[in-house]
Amino acid sequence: MQDAELEQRLRAARDCDAWIVAVADFFTVHGLVFGHGTDNAGDEAYWLLRHLTGWRDLDWRRPPPDVVQRAVELAKQRMTSRKPLAYLIRSAWFAGLEFTVDERVLVPRSPLAEVIERGFAPWCVLNPGDRVLDIGTGSGCIAIAVAHYCPDALVDAIDISPAALEVAAINVARHGVAERVKLVEADLFPPGDARYRVIVSNPPYVPAAEVATLPPEYRHEPEIGLASGETGFDAAERIVRGASARLTPDGVLLLEVGAGAEAFAAANPRLPLIALEFEHGGDGVFVTTAAEIAEFLRDG
Ligand SMILES: C[S@@+](CC[C@H](N)C(=O)[O-])C[C@H]1O[C@@H](n2cnc3c(N)ncnc32)[C@H](O)[C@@H]1O
Repeated sequence: MQDAELEQRLRAARDCDAWIVAVADFFTVHGLVFGHGTDNAGDEAYWLLRHLTGWRDLDWRRPPPDVVQRAVELAKQRMTSRKPLAYLIRSAWFAGLEFTVDERVLVPRSPLAEVIERGFAPWCVLNPGDRVLDIGTGSGCIAIAVAHYCPDALVDAIDISPAALEVAAINVARHGVAERVKLVEADLFPPGDARYRVIVSNPPYVPAAEVATLPPEYRHEPEIGLASGETGFDAAERIVRGASARLTPDGVLLLEVGAGAEAFAAANPRLPLIALEFEHGGDGVFVTTAAEIAEFLRDG
């Protein structure tokens, strides 16, 4: 399908569903890959429509004609550049909150959003003043969502990438949480000996050699946000080992390891890990406790 045909279908669309199907068909015909906030062409087309109309209520029977040209331009850019839509529109959603994103940060998509929206229930109940550590904050989405859904928590958000922290700072200001979210440039753990009730992390977890084989969409993301050593678990394993000294005695670690979750569990058979299940999809997240990690490390 050429862009002229897409434009024609959008102008002729008898309702918003038909409009969305036309954009989705365009995405599908051009072999785009999803996974940056949506996992299919229809959802991405819906996102495009809602974004272009400023998320205002729409009369579903009348697709707005004023956004057709911009929609065609963006669909064409999406097809030729293979950039995730989030980068083209400089916007992504996480835990019901909108974040500014660009190529300095990974596009937010962690299933951890669901557990953060529940204030970490049932894994822990935060008390006022409890501290939370977000390792590998990227856009700041996890840290800021924690501050939003756990209004008494104090959050330290770490990244090794100064460029990512620039974007996180934009989002901290955008969401008005600067008093409770501190951004720190560090290698996994912040300096000092502060202890945290929750350590939450979506670290890089792709085996380094696999990054080059990912679909083009992923190659627009910063490699430091994806690759983590030969197995993909360098950062995750360092986080488990370092967490013991930085969790409170009743603390919990929520760690995302993605598609390699089974391999990670197999590589660490004595580490008690509970795999989280998500209502809204996604997997590859483990929870474990300070006591369990301490025992795991004690046993060698
Ligand atoms: C998978 S991205 C996650 C970003 C964000 N938390 C999210 O969920 O969208 C991993 C992040 O970890 C950061 N990172 C990689 N290695 C790191 C390290 N050794 N110490 C701290 N951050 C690191 C990357 O810069 C990247 O922003």
